[in-house]
Amino acid sequence: MPTPLLAGNWKLHCLRQEARDLASAIVDGSKGLEGRDVLVAPPYTALVDTAEVLSGSSVALSSQDLYWEPKGAFTGQVSAAMIKDTGCSHAIIGHSERRQHFGETDYTVAKKVAAADEAGLIPIVCVGETLEQREEGATMALVEKQVRGGLFELPAEAFKTLIVAYEPVWAIGTGKTATPEQAEEVHQHIRSVLRSLTEDAIADDIRILYGGSVKPDNVDELMACPNVNGALVGGASLKADDFLRIVHYQE
Ligand code: 13P
Repeated sequence: MPTPLLAGNWKLHCLRQEARDLASAIVDGSKGLEGRDVLVAPPYTALVDTAEVLSGSSVALSSQDLYWEPKGAFTGQVSAAMIKDTGCSHAIIGHSERRQHFGETDYTVAKKVAAADEAGLIPIVCVGETLEQREEGATMALVEKQVRGGLFELPAEAFKTLIVAYEPVWAIGTGKTATPEQAEEVHQHIRSVLRSLTEDAIADDIRILYGGSVKPDNVDELMACPNVNGALVGGASLKADDFLRIVHYQE
């Protein structure tokens, strides 16, 4: 079983000092934690400050996106090497908010995943269906297409560290969480797709996180699912107490 990962996606929140305060509380509250990994993903502008606060702790740092070109005339973009340079070890890629609002496609996800890997960043690749797609019965096919499409450029070796996050769009920021049965069903399917892309032993060790209204009062039952290997938390990761309760979920 892979080591569970509890990850906070801060989205478009936190000025630098707020990020420092939140990171500092998370470092304090996760001291001595064993058998679980913790990660935070602040906005670009707070990455360096957060890296300073996390330094010497076991809490990992991630960006929320990146651009695939290494350098050049791409105004406004941030490369994988630049993100690595801030102290990040991970990069979230293909979040549904980027797919919905910023034109992200499986093709751009694949390019970003490859660029992250090349720069030595571990990609956290997000997939998930809309409510409409779920109601049409298209969830499994869609998620499979996103996993295959997002990973097709990833070198074989990189499957050993890859992280996938299943985040049903209808559960993000809505207070509607997937039931443990719904999450487990999709996670199992993602696992089987990963098994078709790499060796079984490697696929079985890939962490598949669940995201979408994870809160202190539902994390325990979600984490009890055999194929849920962690959580990607939005809203509840902005309050240190809530996030730490999630980090300290009960088995
Ligand atoms: P919420 O936890 O706010 O629903 O957000 C989930 C998410 O999108 C994490 O990436």
